[in-house]
Amino acid sequence: MIDRSLPALVQGYSWLPGLLGEHPDGVARTRVMGKPALAVRGPEAVRFFYDEHNVQRGGALPGPVLSTLFGHDAVHTLDGDAHRARKEFFLPLLQADRIAGLVEHVIPVWDDAVREWSTAGQVVLFDAASVVLTRGVCRWAGVPLDEGAGETEHLARDLVAMVDGFATAGPRHWRARRARGRQEERFTRLVEDVRSGRAAAPEGSVLAAVCRHREANGELLDPHTAAVELLNVIRPTVAVCWFVAYTAHALHLQPNQRERLRGGDSAYTAAFVHEVRRFYPFAPFLGGLAVRDLSWRGVSVPAGGMVLLDVFGQNHDEELWGDPYVFRPERFLEHAVERDELIPQGGGEPRTGHRCPGEGLTIGLLEALALRLAGLDYTVPDQDLRISLRRIPARVRSGFAVRDVRVPS
Ligand code: HEM
Repeated sequence: MIDRSLPALVQGYSWLPGLLGEHPDGVARTRVMGKPALAVRGPEAVRFFYDEHNVQRGGALPGPVLSTLFGHDAVHTLDGDAHRARKEFFLPLLQADRIAGLVEHVIPVWDDAVREWSTAGQVVLFDAASVVLTRGVCRWAGVPLDEGAGETEHLARDLVAMVDGFATAGPRHWRARRARGRQEERFTRLVEDVRSGRAAAPEGSVLAAVCRHREANGELLDPHTAAVELLNVIRPTVAVCWFVAYTAHALHLQPNQRERLRGGDSAYTAAFVHEVRRFYPFAPFLGGLAVRDLSWRGVSVPAGGMVLLDVFGQNHDEELWGDPYVFRPERFLEHAVERDELIPQGGGEPRTGHRCPGEGLTIGLLEALALRLAGLDYTVPDQDLRISLRRIPARVRSGFAVRDVRVPS
């Protein structure tokens, strides 16, 4: 069978949906990174994929993805007790008071930024939101930033670069590696300084927690791994800027959405945010290794082979969503969100499995920011608003530029 690693890079988001489209059972055999692979999708396949007796994460993620997106030895790469012990550090992020705390830190930063945008000529929302989120999440997490030295803007650029360059072999990838190298060094020093008393970490902060966190063997995280995991909170929070630009895109193409959001119905706002996360492309698929010889719906893969969960394909599966390529928040008012149906941030349980522990934070932030964006008046100049599904991660090509920003009186 032909190895499909290259088509995965070239075809982008349509690769697995294209393959699975030829197989109505939602399972197909392929080959990636020199290994036989099973591609699956659907809520039952999610449960199969997240069963630790079937699929492990150790050894599954390619080095270039770890050197850019997640960091080596990150929680994403662990299994069993080691994973559960590391995940403990992230679980407080699921709590409602933590989510509210982050939102309360980001909103004033956003409101200040809006005042600046109203006197600026043109603002690119993707970039501007990345800076707002960096400043807000660092204040919340207890990470010091030297504003005078432009550290917020530098960090925002590096965090965006790490996400932007994980799935390409070109210059974007090397930019991502350099960005990760710089920030891992800086965050490692910060952890060492907190532990030695040279720097302070506010009580109860994410920074204090990572410095004190212990592995399954009772040892403190080594400073580099602590830096990697601290970045695994800061970086994806800043990546919410992708969804902010997508929100602006949705409001532009369907101006009636702006009116609905301005109406202030919280159920509609929640539905709108779910639809942004379902409809727009971000995580293309997830991968693990078969722990033993496996078979799903009659299709088998040997132990050590890959199992791929088609995230983008499942979020656009006709059977699950009816009209998957229509942006229609009402679908989430008609039908409650099922745990393993809507999977832009993974499936299963965040406490026991690998599902994203930041899903509540993402939803909380986006609800607040979508409402604020919908509450603004602005002009949308001519620009390239296309979103190429060949580029992983996809993004609004222009970043979504706006002009004449006004807060309506
Ligand atoms: C895992 C998506 C925001 C922290 C994941 C996974 C996806 C994902 C697809 C993989 C799930 C799996 O491997 O089964 C996203 C998207 C976000 C986002 C699209 C929005 C921009 C966040 C935030 C945080 C976060 C805000 C933390 C503050 C993590 C961590 C993991 C993870 C630590 C690894 C969990 C584990 O392996 O146990 N995320 N995420 N993410 N996410 Fe997020």
